[in-house]
Formats: sequence, structure tokens, C-alpha cells
Amino acid sequence: MSVAADSIRDRQRIIWDQFAAGWKKWDAELLGWQAPFGDAVIQDARLQPDSIVLDVASGTGEPGLTAATLVPDGEVVLTDISAGMLRVAEEKASARGLANVSFSVCDAAELPFDDGTFDAVLCCFGVTFFPDMKAALREMVRTAKPGARISAAVWGRPAENPWASLILGTLAHHTELPSPPADMPGLFRCSPPGFMPRMFRDAGLVEVAERKVSTDLVHDSPESYWEFITDIATTVATGLAMADKEARLLIRSDVFQMLGRYEHQGALRLRSTATIVAGTRA
Ligand SMILES: C[S@@+](CC[C@H](N)C(=O)[O-])C[C@H]1O[C@@H](n2cnc3c(N)ncnc32)[C@H](O)[C@@H]1O
Repeated sequence: MSVAADSIRDRQRIIWDQFAAGWKKWDAELLGWQAPFGDAVIQDARLQPDSIVLDVASGTGEPGLTAATLVPDGEVVLTDISAGMLRVAEEKASARGLANVSFSVCDAAELPFDDGTFDAVLCCFGVTFFPDMKAALREMVRTAKPGARISAAVWGRPAENPWASLILGTLAHHTELPSPPADMPGLFRCSPPGFMPRMFRDAGLVEVAERKVSTDLVHDSPESYWEFITDIATTVATGLAMADKEARLLIRSDVFQMLGRYEHQGALRLRSTATIVAGTRA
């Protein structure tokens, strides 16, 4: 891996370690909101009761921990670059009494597993943060058995994701921050239609298909939404940290005002859309 990619990866590790506490704090909300995406990824992986499964960039445990309940005679290996995020996943696994899981802190681009180890490889909202996405996909394919399914979720286009684009757009409006180059980690980097299927085919996968899954992020109040987003969304929080105090206050008040558009039956409902892409190792 190049020196630039190494330093982006190391920066990601530091950021995600810092955000592990926020992900732990909002675990119930995150699980409720993102379950439809994880379920779709698992469905497209076609797990069997004895499947040996790899979850890449598991963070605080999904979709790996849910997959573990579906493979009672198999096992799931949960991996992530951030030991802090994976520690939360480990705590959740032991609280749930899951015995068929193990954990490994590693880079998606350098997976410490033999060729052809897994029946299925899952990855929810991880690819967009990998500095070298092609290298990570190569590793996911290498460690999959012939015939194994590889299934991932990435965020769809900004317009389909006001839960994040509302605040990122306001941030860009109030600051001089340049938009990140296309090859840098960013929430919507994998969102152009056809982008992920092309990546999967280029990595040698066959029977590649993509579909969209949508759900709402629901919060009772703008305050609750703001606290949630700034606790869990690394892209938003690092952008805000680069703005000065005055700009941060303006961004907050603009966002609160715009949130009015998303009020429905006494709650804020912000659309969230992911692309689910899956393929088979030849
Ligand atoms: C948005 S979280 C997704 C966590 C989980 N899969 C979920 O859906 O809740 C992204 C995760 O990608 C991990 N990550 C970032 N870069 C990585 C890399 N190069 N290799 C492995 N994991 C990485 C982060 O540490 C973080 O836990």
C-alpha cells in the first residue's frame, strides 16, 4: 500500500477509536435505524446454518452479530481497523451469549486469513472509508471460497440521504472547506449508480447485482438529531471541528431551521438510502 494510503488508514483508525464511545452511547438507535440495511446485506449473502462468515469493518458489531444468530453451526469473524469500535462489538457479543464469533483488529486491505476461508463476506458502510478500495475488495475476494457470496452496503446519493447531506451541505455553505478528492474517504464516495457493481466485477466477481434499500432516521427533536449526528458521523464531526465557533453556531441554527421540512406526525424523519451490492466468487 502507498504511504498516502497508509496515512489515511491510520487517521481513520484514530478517528474511529475516538467515536467508539458515541457509537456505544447510541447503540440502540443505530441498530433500529440501520437494521434494514444489515438485513438486506445478510439476505444477499445467502447464509446457511453452517456458513463461515467474514464481516469486514464490523465497527460495533453489525451485520456480523446478527449473522451469527443465523449460522448456529457456523461462525462469524468480525474485523475492523479500530480496536475501540471492535471492543464494543465484543462486549455486545458476550452480553448476548454468542459463542460462534471471534474478533480481529485488521485493515480490510490486509486481511490475516488464508485464501478461500469464508462462505460469505459482508461489509456494511465500510468500503467508503477504505483508502484503497480495490485492495480491500481483492482481499475480500481472495479470502472467500469459490462460490462464496460477497455482499456490501454503501450510502446512496446525497439527495437520497438528507440525514447526512442536510448537515454536510450546510457545512460546505458556511466554510471554505474544499470537497474531498474522489479517491479520499467520504460518505458519498461510492454513491454514483453503477459504481459498486463495477468495483465488484473488476475484482473478479460474477452474478453481480445492486438494489436500493431506504428507511428513515427518526428523532424526537432537532437537539436529539444534532447530538446523535455529532456523536456518530465522523465526516460531519471532523468537518465541524474545522469550522470556527461562529460558523459552527450558524451551521447549527441553519440546520435546525431546515429540519422543519422533515417533521411528520410529531417527529423528524430523515430519509436514508443505501445501495446493496452483492456478487459471487467465480
Ligand atoms: C460506519 S462504520 C460501520 C460499522 C458497521 N459495519 C455498521 O454498519 O454499523 C465504518 C467502520 O469502518 C472501519 N474502517 C475504516 N477504515 C478501515 C480499514 N481500512 N479497514 C477496516 N476497517 C476500517 C471503521 O473503523 C468503522 O468501524
